[in-house]
Amino acid sequence: MGNAVRLGVAGLGTVGTGLIKIIEKHQSRIRSAAGGPVEVVAVCARDRSRDRGIDISGFRWFDDPIELAQDPEIDVFVELIGGEDGVTLDAVRQALAAGKHVVTANKALLARHGTELAKLAEEKAVGLGFEAAVAGGIPVIKAMRESFAGNEIKRVYGILNGTCNYILTKMEEEGRTFDDVLKEAQSAGYAEADPSFDIGGIDAAHKVALLASLAFGTEVSFDDVYIEGIENIELADLESAAELGFRIKLLGVAMKTDSGIEQRVHPAMVPLHSAIAEVGGVTNCVTVEGDFVGDVMLVGPGAGEGPTASSVVADIIDVVRGTVSAPFIRPASQLKPYKRALMRAHEGGYYVRVSLEDAPGAFAAVAKIMADEGVSLESIVQRRPQSALPGIDARDEAGGARQVVMITHPTYEKAMRSAIKAIESDPHVDKTPQMIRIEKL
Ligand code: HSE
Repeated sequence: MGNAVRLGVAGLGTVGTGLIKIIEKHQSRIRSAAGGPVEVVAVCARDRSRDRGIDISGFRWFDDPIELAQDPEIDVFVELIGGEDGVTLDAVRQALAAGKHVVTANKALLARHGTELAKLAEEKAVGLGFEAAVAGGIPVIKAMRESFAGNEIKRVYGILNGTCNYILTKMEEEGRTFDDVLKEAQSAGYAEADPSFDIGGIDAAHKVALLASLAFGTEVSFDDVYIEGIENIELADLESAAELGFRIKLLGVAMKTDSGIEQRVHPAMVPLHSAIAEVGGVTNCVTVEGDFVGDVMLVGPGAGEGPTASSVVADIIDVVRGTVSAPFIRPASQLKPYKRALMRAHEGGYYVRVSLEDAPGAFAAVAKIMADEGVSLESIVQRRPQSALPGIDARDEAGGARQVVMITHPTYEKAMRSAIKAIESDPHVDKTPQMIRIEKL
């Protein structure tokens, strides 16, 4: 290939800046890997004069990403603007319609419009690369598309949000409250100024929707993801989890069940000595369970300039090499409609923490409710009032009440929800019980 492949980069934030740095630093490496030269020729961002620590004077400047997307002088449109609709969606549609390859790090866009954009890319026989959209620098999409393509995938799950993992890790290690660690994460730049997408589980849910489609050959269906964030996790839960041999992680899970496909994001108990429990701080991980390969766990940085830009470059090299495959592995026209397994049909063990009046018959009332719902208890712990973690007093946290923690045998979520509702209305119980699913690994 003689002529350079010309990139138009829309968005010069953290990832866009990182991309330009990699292309400058590793020009000859990328050229050899891609089989020809790759050049950034045009860029588009909100503010032309902002100091980004890179020289953009040699690139043509566009104020409007849609104009850049249609520019006849580019071959690949690299979308690093963000946002799931509006100008971003229009620009990507226009680029594909104009027969340009698109590489993006935008999980929200693909979670909402992935099927449509994949069809458009295939009609035009161009690539739509989004490795950077799921777990930053971890090459999970490439692994699913290439390495595990001969397997039936049973489940794919992992720690898909670094901000949440950082907060949970710090809370547990340092015995600090959620609010306290969140403030620190924001000032360190891990969490967004408005962190609700991170801590509310939405960011992880975007990634789950993409992984589910890749794993099961279904249309991308973000609206079908069940989402709970980590806002309600208390120190008492982290301590109880450890006492019972678990650690709490925000998991994103896509799995096949008898009634359909579960896509879910929620805090989950994982065994304390499992590999996933060891993934701490901002690190992400994804485990893919294939019928022949078995369980493969990929661990690495899920965000940040270098890791995310590294995945963007990998996708660019693929399109330059001409190894363009269907964005969701199968042709988009063959993606099946998504069949949702309802959360109330979810089956598994549960952790339940109840804040209970210290009086005769209080626990018996709770146990009777569980029995009435057919929920069998595996273990029960009444937590000592004085916590083992520094600075925590279970009585203080619960306003004088005792904390009773139960682990159930596998049961249906429908039964658990009925039990929780009944427990909450019991006069011995002074606040909404905590319920956390146990992930079977
Ligand atoms: N905000 C995300 C995280 C990274 O904290 O992991 C981008 O998805």
